Amino acid sequence: MDGNGRWALKRHLPRNTGHKEGIKAMMRIADACHKLSVPYVSFYAFSTENKNRPSGEVKGLVSLMEDNFSRLSSELEANNIRLNVIGDITYFGSKVQKIIETGVEKTRYLTGGVFNIALNYGGRDELCRAAELYKNSDGNAKLSDFLYTAGQPDPDILIRTGGEKRLSNFMLYQLAYTELFFSDTYWPDFSEAELNDIVDEYYKRERRFGK
Ligand code: IPE
Ligand code: MG
Repeated sequence: MDGNGRWALKRHLPRNTGHKEGIKAMMRIADACHKLSVPYVSFYAFSTENKNRPSGEVKGLVSLMEDNFSRLSSELEANNIRLNVIGDITYFGSKVQKIIETGVEKTRYLTGGVFNIALNYGGRDELCRAAELYKNSDGNAKLSDFLYTAGQPDPDILIRTGGEKRLSNFMLYQLAYTELFFSDTYWPDFSEAELNDIVDEYYKRERRFGK
């Protein structure tokens, strides 16, 4: 979800206001995905590398999580959607971890869809962790059984906003045959209409999976 900072800068607002708007956009787009009956949707909210941002910004992002996570999980619960966190949340303080775990717990058995939120997530980190678990497992397991997304299909669509054209350490294993879409829109402005256009475009692409 790229472009929060530039969205704010353009309006002479603090970067954190951009992140706040970014959360609103996330809720809006999650709803739009639900309307489209997308069974799995993932949002890259905070990467392992984002920790290296100025401490004021990191603190701001963490307190936004603190302020919004309960509402997010209640909304998901109301829509019968399971909240799944991908990433190493032990980085966050116990208060934030507790809020996250409560949301995961109360939506655990919901069946209407899966909402993945990536928090302190990095694709390389995920792969190293999976390799370690795989090494200690019996011979019947697959490496993908130890990814944070275990049991979920690979993504069909990846959307990168904010004009950047890179993966930035996102789902390096899972994106092998994903269709990629790049938008110049700053994330807070990303709309349901643009999402629908991308989905229309997706259906026009021929997927061969190397065959
Ligand atoms: C992405 O927006 C949101 C997070 C990393 C949390 P940016 O903060 O990267 O926004 P720009 O790239 O500065 O516009
Ligand atoms: Mg950025």
